Amino acid sequence: MSETLSRPQGGRTAAPLKEIPLVRPRDGIGGTLAFKRDQLAFLAGGLARHGDIFRFRPLGLPMVMVNHPDYIRQILVDKGEQYDKNAAIFKVVRPVLRNGLIANPDMALWRRQRRMMAPHFTPRAVGSFTRNMTDESVLMLQRWERDYPEGATIDVTDEIGQLALRIVNRSLFSAEVGEVAQAFERAFGVANSVLGAFFRFPFPPLSVPTPSHRRLRRAIDDMDSFVSGFIRERLSGGTPPGQDVDLLSLLLHSVDEEDGKGMDLEQLHHEVLNICIGAYETTTNTLSWTFYLLARHPEIEERLHAELDQVLGGRVPTFEDLPKLAYTRMVVEEALRIYSPAYQFMRRAVVEDEIGGYRMPAGSNVLVNSYFLHRHPEFWHEPERFDPERFSPEEAAKRPKHAYVPFGSGHRVCIGKHFAMSELVLVLATVARSHRLVMPAGAPEVLPEALITLHPKGGVHLQLEHR
Ligand code: HEM
Repeated sequence: MSETLSRPQGGRTAAPLKEIPLVRPRDGIGGTLAFKRDQLAFLAGGLARHGDIFRFRPLGLPMVMVNHPDYIRQILVDKGEQYDKNAAIFKVVRPVLRNGLIANPDMALWRRQRRMMAPHFTPRAVGSFTRNMTDESVLMLQRWERDYPEGATIDVTDEIGQLALRIVNRSLFSAEVGEVAQAFERAFGVANSVLGAFFRFPFPPLSVPTPSHRRLRRAIDDMDSFVSGFIRERLSGGTPPGQDVDLLSLLLHSVDEEDGKGMDLEQLHHEVLNICIGAYETTTNTLSWTFYLLARHPEIEERLHAELDQVLGGRVPTFEDLPKLAYTRMVVEEALRIYSPAYQFMRRAVVEDEIGGYRMPAGSNVLVNSYFLHRHPEFWHEPERFDPERFSPEEAAKRPKHAYVPFGSGHRVCIGKHFAMSELVLVLATVARSHRLVMPAGAPEVLPEALITLHPKGGVHLQLEHR
């Protein structure tokens, strides 16, 4: 057992650190099986019983849930270097993501890859993609006009999923993904639910060919062939005119300034797949939830329409409009608070640490769950209420920065953050400028499904109307 740390205080030895409270059977919230059955209910029970930090051991795995902005800042930022990605959830998703940026535990390789890719994700670089975002949205609306009569119910999650894949692939890889987008969506859906279940109860190992593990294998193969399709095309056909600076050619040809090495094809494949996965379901879920929330809150939708009418007067938005679409952005930020799609991430404590007076043992899997953080009653009044005003500059300034982390924080913060925010605001503005998506009469509430990402269970289905 590791030695108990003491906090030095002005030369005197301070009281020993407290042990992080452990969820026990007598707490009445269960253990491994309760976590497997309903992860959100289990964690809610732990928070209600123990407050902002507690331990639990699903199948013997040491996990620590942290739910306070100070703890989260310490783990992701202040002591970010001593909390790595060798953590349980990333081991679960590694068969899909492999050595790409998202789950890569090798800090030296990660640094090199991130350094190479970062220039394509600055706000300025993203500015050159915003035209793709609005063009693809307009094409989607034209397809809707052609395929759906007024008042038809559409599968918003599926439609936006295809849109998100088209936007990211066209912007970063100059690839027109067309019909194959749907096959990627299906494969991702399978991986998300099989791995979501495996995270909650990691048994039997993925190497055991159960029917669901075989489905996962096929889904990974399908996502891999989607990616190799356009890498192969680029390798055989050369760079399309005018696309010599897209991310794909950069990854193919770039040489790291420090070690003088290029990227091998396997690593390239993993990075492209990570970008597709990182960019696709997160934005799809956010926009699905945003339209759903707007459909349930006509008074907020009205304010959104007022801003869009005033700023755009019916035309398609451009990059230059982004700073003027302040309320549209607040609507998106609030949807990202309530239904944060990348709602759980994790770090492994590399060494023993002190956190808020508690001893954080080395090897702990530290769980940050923004579903709960974004509902923390100390920082969010009536947290279940959809209220974009929380993101006005005055209200936002009253909260600690780490009370809201939809894109993470610190050195592993989402590389696609600016890309995502521009896309979310521009797609919402392009659609809501001319169309409304309304609740079908008697439609049931859509519930969040806690997979690897937070997914709207059954998808969001809304009726299409002209404004
Ligand atoms: C609403 C949209 C999005 C959300 C909520 C989101 C959320 C996140 C979060 C929370 C992380 C950090 C996870 C951690 O610290 O463990 C992350 C990382 C990442 N995201 Fe996003 N993301 C979004 C969109 C995108 C887009 C559009 C792209 C690419 C175009 C992208 C690519 C990535 C990558 C590659 C990483 C790994 C970064 C690294 O470790 O260097 N994401 N994302």
